[in-house]
Amino acid sequence: MKGKDFLGIRYLTRDDVENVLKLSFYIKHGHRDVSEKLKGRKIISIFFESSTRTRTSFEIAAKNMGASVVNIDYHQSSMVKGETHKDTIVNLTAMKPDCFVVRNANSGYPVFIKQFTDVPVINAGDGLCEHPSQAILDLLTMYEVKSRIDNLKVCIIGDILHSRVAKSHIHLSRMLNWQISLYGPKTMLPREEWLSNIKIEKNLKEALHGKDFIIFLRIQLERKSGEDIPSLQEYSRHFGISSPSALPKDTYVMHPGPVNRNVELSSEVIDHSGKSLIINQVENSIYTRMAIYSFCLNLPPEEA
Ligand code: NCD
Repeated sequence: MKGKDFLGIRYLTRDDVENVLKLSFYIKHGHRDVSEKLKGRKIISIFFESSTRTRTSFEIAAKNMGASVVNIDYHQSSMVKGETHKDTIVNLTAMKPDCFVVRNANSGYPVFIKQFTDVPVINAGDGLCEHPSQAILDLLTMYEVKSRIDNLKVCIIGDILHSRVAKSHIHLSRMLNWQISLYGPKTMLPREEWLSNIKIEKNLKEALHGKDFIIFLRIQLERKSGEDIPSLQEYSRHFGISSPSALPKDTYVMHPGPVNRNVELSSEVIDHSGKSLIINQVENSIYTRMAIYSFCLNLPPEEA
């Protein structure tokens, strides 16, 4: 084994999460210099789904650490000629990369390809399953506001069924004893077995009440989740917020992006510097992904 995988929050220990978080914080505040730590290393990035934030920040994070990044373009790859995922990964492994960063529409894709490679795999989002790096960068953003990671009061609002971000947060909430609740149309809530010990809010007012953070999720139109609701306007009326004044005093809004402006949140809320942490999340994604490379590529902590 050449390093460690980063497949999902469910596979991490609390120590793993704390170590990555701590290192992200130290890198951000200049207490650790990792700028040359991946010099000479090669990262292969394979995104089968569209991405702006995640793909770019994984690439910038790698380059900040001196690594070179090779992006595989699915449409230019031999997979369009029918080559299997197994053969693709086996062949790319033969080129001796140091790490794969993968995003795929199929839940379980990163775990599936681990059968065929000993190169560390970082999950950059798999289907409806997990998006672990997003959960940790959100955790860094929460830590900066509340100075703690335990016992947070968090409500996730929106299309939870189709959201891998929500699934990773639910795993995190169990690890860190959050009081977590969910709110969304019944057609967009996960199956019963997922919901043990998780409160489902009855209305928006209750969902917002007494929370430290509200994580809004978008309606995933490309996964046809728009078909689970009568109209975007009505969705917005019941599950979105249009004014920052709807939020209690110490409650902050988060969103993994991309935002459907004026569906889950109005522009006034998205752009509100005192209430919205959305751009902080994006900034923190770079430091978190640098820390994830350090974790996966076994950079010794004292050296990291
Ligand atoms: C999310 C994703 O792709 O899972 N976005 C992201 O990575 N920042 C959320 C989404 O697509 O809704």
